[in-house]
Parts: sequence; structure tokens; C-alpha cells
Amino acid sequence: MNLTKSATLAAAICCIVLIQVSGQSQDDATTTKPETPKEIIKVKESKLCKKCDCYLDSNLLDCSEKLKDWLSAEDWEVLTNGDVVFKTINLEHNNLTSVPILPKYDVENLYLANNQIDSIAVGAFQNLTKLITLDLSHNRLTSKVLVPDVFKGPYTEQDFEALVNLKTLNLGYNDLHSLDADLFEHIPYIEELVLCSNSFHVIDRLSETAISGLQSLKILDVSYMEIEDLPDTILHGPRDLDILIAAGNLFTQLPKALKRATNLTSLVLNENPIESLIGDNVFPPLTKLTHLSMTFMTKMYKIGPGALSELQSLTELILSDNKLLNEIDEEALSKNVTGGQYLDYPPLEKVYLNNCNVSTLPKQLLVRWDKLKALDLRFNPWNCDDSNDYLINVLIDQVNKTTPVLAKDVQCGSPTKLKDVTVLRVANEHMVESSTGSLIWVGLLVVLLIAVPTVVGAYVMKRRGCFGVFRRHDSGASSALYNRTSFNEDFHI
Ligand SMILES: *[C@@H]1O[C@H](CO)[C@@H](O)[C@H](O)[C@H]1NC(C)=O
Ligand SMILES: *[C@@H]1O[C@H](CO)[C@@H](O)[C@H](O)[C@H]1NC(C)=O
Ligand SMILES: *[C@@H]1O[C@H](CO)[C@@H](O)[C@H](O)[C@H]1NC(C)=O
Ligand SMILES: *[C@@H]1O[C@H](CO)[C@@H](O)[C@H](O)[C@H]1NC(C)=O
Ligand SMILES: *[C@@H]1O[C@H](CO)[C@@H](O)[C@H](O)[C@H]1NC(C)=O
Ligand SMILES: *[C@@H]1O[C@H](CO)[C@@H](O)[C@H](O)[C@H]1NC(C)=O
Repeated sequence: MNLTKSATLAAAICCIVLIQVSGQSQDDATTTKPETPKEIIKVKESKLCKKCDCYLDSNLLDCSEKLKDWLSAEDWEVLTNGDVVFKTINLEHNNLTSVPILPKYDVENLYLANNQIDSIAVGAFQNLTKLITLDLSHNRLTSKVLVPDVFKGPYTEQDFEALVNLKTLNLGYNDLHSLDADLFEHIPYIEELVLCSNSFHVIDRLSETAISGLQSLKILDVSYMEIEDLPDTILHGPRDLDILIAAGNLFTQLPKALKRATNLTSLVLNENPIESLIGDNVFPPLTKLTHLSMTFMTKMYKIGPGALSELQSLTELILSDNKLLNEIDEEALSKNVTGGQYLDYPPLEKVYLNNCNVSTLPKQLLVRWDKLKALDLRFNPWNCDDSNDYLINVLIDQVNKTTPVLAKDVQCGSPTKLKDVTVLRVANEHMVESSTGSLIWVGLLVVLLIAVPTVVGAYVMKRRGCFGVFRRHDSGASSALYNRTSFNEDFHI
């Protein structure tokens, strides 16, 4: 199951903050001295480090599940006059109910998740001017509490400065229903915003205004917000948006807002009740998109022609666990760019189609199957007959060679005789006579030279006559499970 991990991982991004370690040196911070020189406190020997875990080598102060209340004045004394500066302070799981105005300190990552915070003082973080990451997830924040001035920066001369360093804000798993239109006015350089698991139901005009104003935004997580769509212009402002995670919502169509997200490289739409990608409901041109995940879509049954054609940079396509997904059109990925004889295809490296209801895999879906590093076809009811000629004769062997673990559970769903037999075995049984390895090719050559022209020739002519040059599933003619003749045809030219 290792190889499906990346699929499940994508779904789990919701509310996991990427810890961003600032590359800049913060040396200047340690040289700012207080007016009245105080004695430097040895942090390691302080009471604080008995109460919490102090990791001096990684500059981490870990007080999770260690506190009854906020750090005391004495603790802050230790911190502000100490011989180390903790870049990361973890105060998770402490039953904190409010955030006061915090003292001046050069912390970069502040984790306040999993408390019971339902109020935040105006300007609570104004003295934390080096703050990069703020995690307020899994609390009890409401829209009423979360006013713009909560994020007010330091007061200088006659105005408040922005908290210019704040890049990551996690507000996931709270009780927010909308955002103040000016919520981010003091933190305009946010690059990662997590709003997941707040039941918005709809992203209203004010929330849209707040989000679309974030011009530096690179990662946006709007998963599990019970929304049916994204406002069309919500991604107008964030021109560099790189990753959009919108899993677990109520989308029945692809959001039109995607049109604007032309710089997107990763998109996660798992667990949305989209039924099909056909007609107008296909992806707009997202020329930089490399990673697309659409798993556990309980209603998805068809991916039609052109559905993914405008995603010509796609390297990873995850379509696992779409239980109804039965049809993937052979023109779903290809694009007629030149208007000539050849179609363009995305440079896919990993394709996950496991645990769906797919029974045939058209060769034309993707031309360079040989470039795939991972192809997960397991747990589908494959047709083990002529209609799957390419899968049986070429692909399954390739899968077994590159990733044997992915070949094992690729089984036939039909015909009844072969139900639950592995496709690999079906492929192999027909090659039994010619032994294994290179002997297959020797054997084949012999067959081609001697047997084929006489025995098979007539049959091939007949097929050509009936069905033209294109091989089609000959449903009526024979109950042969699949036909070696069509394999030989490839070498006949
Ligand atoms: C927070 O409250 C819960 C339930 O009242 C309690 O079990 C837990 O120990 C408290 N946590 C801390 C760090 O005091
Ligand atoms: C924090 O900021 C407030 C307002 O600027 C200021 O009054 C207070 O002295 C600061 N606290 C510390 C400990 O720096
Ligand atoms: C995509 O990103 C580039 C480089 O950051 C930027 O110049 C361009 O405006 C962006 N395009 C759109 C449509 O946002
Ligand atoms: C799977 O696809 C087959 C057609 O190939 C269809 O008859 C069957 O009902 C589908 N199963 C589900 C669960 O949708
Ligand atoms: C691409 O489009 C052109 C013009 O519509 C058409 O003539 C050509 O056959 C198409 N190519 C393929 C491979 O379908
Ligand atoms: C699958 O590949 C393994 C080597 O990775 C090989 O030992 C095995 O015989 C192959 N299985 C079949 C049925 O071809």
C-alpha cells in the first residue's frame, strides 16, 4: 500500500502547517540591548526549562500539555533576558482560552493549536515582529472575535506597521463562518492560509474580498468548509497561487475560479460530489499544473474527452478510490496542439487508478506508457478479453517489471471464467510454451516466420476487412478471452 500513500497524503494536507524555517540570519536581533542592562539569564537552568522542554540546539521551547495558563511574567523574564532565543514556541494542548498582548520576543513560529481560545486581544502579536508562522487551529475562534486589529503590528510614530514577516496563518478547525473583508490588512504578505474545517457554507463577498486581496498567497487550503463553489474571482488577487486544496466540499462542478489560477502547480479536489468531467465541465488551461488529485469522489463515473487535455504539464494524476468511475475516454488527456498528425500528451510519471470501477484501459489514453514510474491499476474489474489487448499484452508485464507490488492485485472482473484471476497470469499462460525472458522473443520470431503467414494470415485479412485497420473488440465472433493474433499484428508490419 506504500504507493498509494501519496494519494492519502494529499488528502491529509488539510490543516498541517508547513514549518517554514527562515533562511535569513536573525543575528541583529540578539544585539538589540535593553535600556537598563540586565543580567543574562542562563535559560537552560531556569524554572521554565523544568516546566517545559527546552531544545537549545533546535531553538525549540516545547510547552505542549505542560501549562495550566499562559507563561508567567517570570517565564517571560527568562525568555527576554535569556542567553538563547527560541525560534519556535509550542503552546499546544494547554486549555488556553484567550491570547493576551504578548511581550516583545523574537519568536518565529508560534503554535497555539488545540487550545480553547475564543478571544484574542487587539494587537496580541504586535511585539512579535519576527513572527513567520502562527497556528491558531483547533480552537474556538468565531468571526466576531477575529477582527483585523487582532493582527495589528507594532506602533511606530503615528501608525501601526504591518506584521511584515508573517507568512503562514492556520485558522483551520475553528468556528468561523466568514472573514472580515479587511482581516488581513495588517498581515498582507501571507503566503499560506489554512481555513479548512470551518463551516462557511458559502464564501460570501466579505470573505472573498479578504482572500482575493492576498497577493503573496502561494498555498490556500479551503477544505471541508461545506461550500458548493468558489466565488469566480476569489483567485484574482493571488497571482502566484501554487497549491490549492479544496477537498471535502460540496462541489458538483469544477469551480470556474480555476480559470484564474494559471500559476497553480498542485490541485486537490478529493471528496467532492462531481459526477463527471464532460462537456463544459472540463479543466481550463492550467499550464503549470503538475499534480492533480481527485480521490474518493463518490459520484464520479466518467472522465470524458478533453477533460484533462488542458493540463499538459501533469506529471502525477491521482484518481484512486472513485468507486463509480467506469469510463475514462481515450481522448481525456490528449490535446491537438499542432493541428497535425500527432497529439500532445502530458508528461505523466505517476498514475493512480486503483480502487475504481474501470474495466478497460485504451492504449490511446496515454502514448508513452513506458515513461510511467508508477501505474496503479489494482482493484478494478478488468475485462480480460480483446478489449484490453494493450493492458494484457504489454502493460501488465511492464508494471510487473517496474513495480511488482502493483501488478499483484490487478485482476480480471470478466469474463466470469477469469474472475479474480490476475491479469499478469492471464498474460503469462499464453506464453507458457515459449518459456520466459528473451526466449519469448525467439519463440515469437519462430511463430511469425513459420506459423503466422499460413495459419493466421487469413484471419488477419478477415479482421482487416470487417473492422478496418483499427482493432476493435470483436464481441460476437468468438468467445476467445483475448486474441494473440492482435499481438502478432504489431510485429507484422
Ligand atoms: C485540559 O483540560 C482537560 C479536561 O478538563 C484535562 O484533561 C487536561 O489535563 C487539561 N490540560 C492541561 C494541559 O491542563
Ligand atoms: C508590547 O507592546 C505594547 C504596545 O506597543 C507595549 O505597550 C508593551 O510595552 C510591549 N511589551 C513588551 C514586553 O515589550
Ligand atoms: C504567474 O506568475 C508569474 C511569475 O510570478 C507572474 O509574473 C504572472 O503574472 C502570474 N500569472 C498570473 C496569471 O497570475
Ligand atoms: C461498474 O461498471 C459496470 C459496467 O462496466 C456497471 O455495470 C456497474 O454497475 C458498475 N459498478 C458500480 C459500483 O458502479
Ligand atoms: C488535429 O486537428 C486538425 C485540424 O482540426 C486535424 O486535421 C488533425 O487530424 C487533428 N489531428 C489528430 C491527430 O487528431
Ligand atoms: C513479475 O516480476 C518478477 C520480478 O520482478 C518475476 O520474478 C515474476 O516472475 C514476474 N511475474 C510474472 C507472472 O511474470
